[in-house]
Amino acid sequence: DRSLKIAPSILSADFANFGAECCAIEAQGCDWVHVDVMDGHFVPNITFGPAMVQAIRPHVKTIMDVHLMIAPADPYLEAFAKAGADILTIHPEAGPHMDRSLQLIRSLGCKAGVALNPATPESVIEYVLDTIDLVLVMSVNPGFGGQSFIPSAVEKVRRVRAMIGDRPIHIQVDGGVTAKTAPLVVEAGADALVAGSAVFKGGSVATPEVYGDNMRGI
Ligand code: DX5
Ligand code: ZN
Repeated sequence: DRSLKIAPSILSADFANFGAECCAIEAQGCDWVHVDVMDGHFVPNITFGPAMVQAIRPHVKTIMDVHLMIAPADPYLEAFAKAGADILTIHPEAGPHMDRSLQLIRSLGCKAGVALNPATPESVIEYVLDTIDLVLVMSVNPGFGGQSFIPSAVEKVRRVRAMIGDRPIHIQVDGGVTAKTAPLVVEAGADALVAGSAVFKGGSVATPEVYGDNMRGI
């Protein structure tokens, strides 16, 4: 299914009202909820862990798309799977055994994703194309919302699209996705878009008007 999926990132949501924010973006028709997990080690920021995934799980009827910006990831995969994650995306830059981590994710019953930082070449996924369900092309250096889009991500999306051929693998783009940059990556072959500040700008999205206006742009 290559229909465009919109995955608002709750990193830009109201941290005091995650449940309400998840309900609000789903009520406005988002396809996935993007959950940015940060450990203050792999990235220079700390957000939340499995307990938060578990807490918002009852409020997310669609897909919980968990982006693990943590190193190492392996020791926590089971906890995130048990907490209710549908997709678990890891960074190859965070550990030495990507194939083993991806096999573990699938054995836990989750979809397996690989996130590529801006400087990481797409060749990194060459030997795991049959072990992944999603490639996340980072268009910012991970750690924060509200950063500017890194244009080289467009060409990387195009090359990943060529690499995966007709395999059922989503190409997701994450970082600085706005009404201006979204068309560039969709044209290059992306079928899933993460948007944090573009969705939640102007504070909480819990008002349909705010979400509606912001999303119409994307
Ligand atoms: C950054 C996160 C992104 C971020 C996107 O490390 O992985 O998902 O929340 O935020 P925007 O859309 O504001 O760039
Ligand atoms: Zn993310």
